[in-house]
Amino acid sequence: MKIGILGAGQLARMLALAGYPLGLEFIFLDPAADACAHPLGEHLQGDYDDPRLLATLAERADIVTYEFENVPAQVAEFLTAHTQVFPPANALAVAQDRLLEKNFFQALGIPTPAYAPVDCLPGLRQAMDAIGYPAILKSRTQGYDGKGQSVLATAADLAAAWHKLNGVPAIVEAFVPFTREVSIIAVRNPNGAVAFYPLSENRHRDGILRVAECKVGDRLQAQAESYVGRLLTELDYVGVLALELFEVEGQLIANEFAPRVHNSGHWTIEACQTSQFENHLRAILNLPLGNTEAIAYAAMINFIGGLPACAEVLTIANAHLHLYAKVSRKGRKVAHATALANDFDRFSDCRDELIALAEKTDCS
Ligand SMILES: Nc1ncnc2c1ncn2[C@@H]1O[C@H](COP(=O)(O)OP(=O)(O)O)[C@@H](O)[C@H]1O
Ligand SMILES: [Mg+2]
Repeated sequence: MKIGILGAGQLARMLALAGYPLGLEFIFLDPAADACAHPLGEHLQGDYDDPRLLATLAERADIVTYEFENVPAQVAEFLTAHTQVFPPANALAVAQDRLLEKNFFQALGIPTPAYAPVDCLPGLRQAMDAIGYPAILKSRTQGYDGKGQSVLATAADLAAAWHKLNGVPAIVEAFVPFTREVSIIAVRNPNGAVAFYPLSENRHRDGILRVAECKVGDRLQAQAESYVGRLLTELDYVGVLALELFEVEGQLIANEFAPRVHNSGHWTIEACQTSQFENHLRAILNLPLGNTEAIAYAAMINFIGGLPACAEVLTIANAHLHLYAKVSRKGRKVAHATALANDFDRFSDCRDELIALAEKTDCS
């Protein structure tokens, strides 16, 4: 069985690493010659909308999936017409446009920050009367790792923030004074079987995820499951989906969802009976889903912009290193490590040492 993946970055790499024990083969489409999943399968090198390469992908792969949501609608349509594609194209369409995504949350009764669409500077000024300061202006599409976003502290920030977007359609949303950020990763197969991972508590800086910690038995687990469950059902979803949430006054507010495996679920590789990557593959292959229970305390620490020496990480007890084989560049995720232990003190020592090391090597 051959799985086609749009994109050959670290998420595709980890999907392939999870798929080998199940006897799966992989074919990737990615424009970068040095894409980091390249050594793990066949690599079609070229643009995502190259019709010749898409036809080859559809022909050679039994099932196609992807590692990012900004797949042009016509690409998803082409692939859907020629082969099986999971998650479904409608999930992509909603997740890649922040306005459709927020409208979708609202329609399902999932709370969001106050928001308004913005298409011009006067429109932004008008929207701010209702939203209030502080707020965040975000491009509707193509954003990731905080890119395409500006914080609006006062009316003096509006013009510069709008011009930075170069006229692309945007959304403005109220800045949420959250006590913490969490995410929930869930998976659904074509039979409608669903499984949820424990909540992940996430720390970002400059819009980029730094630390994600597994929170077994969190008091907001049930609320998060209810929200993500609605998304899965409504989208008739197949595969892994991640929902990012803010906690405010003990309640959850939705930020965004990703129709794919997610950075905040990397600790599932070591900490759970079945990782998010294996469960994504099981789901798209219509196989029974694996147990999502965590078997230890765990946290994932991203290495961004710079890498410590491999031995520096491996010398830390209970640390598990994942190098992505990517060239270091400012703001780029180049590796992560997972702190894992059954004993809480041993776990938290490892986590804190890894955080300190990541801070030291970070040049983002
Ligand atoms: N409305 C908001 N209020 C407060 N912080 C926010 C808000 N929107 C985004 N952020 C912060 O910026 C980060 C990145 O924004 P997000 O909307 O998740 O975009 P991306 O697609 O880049 O991940 C969030 O994880 C959060 O830390
Ligand atoms: Mg996000």
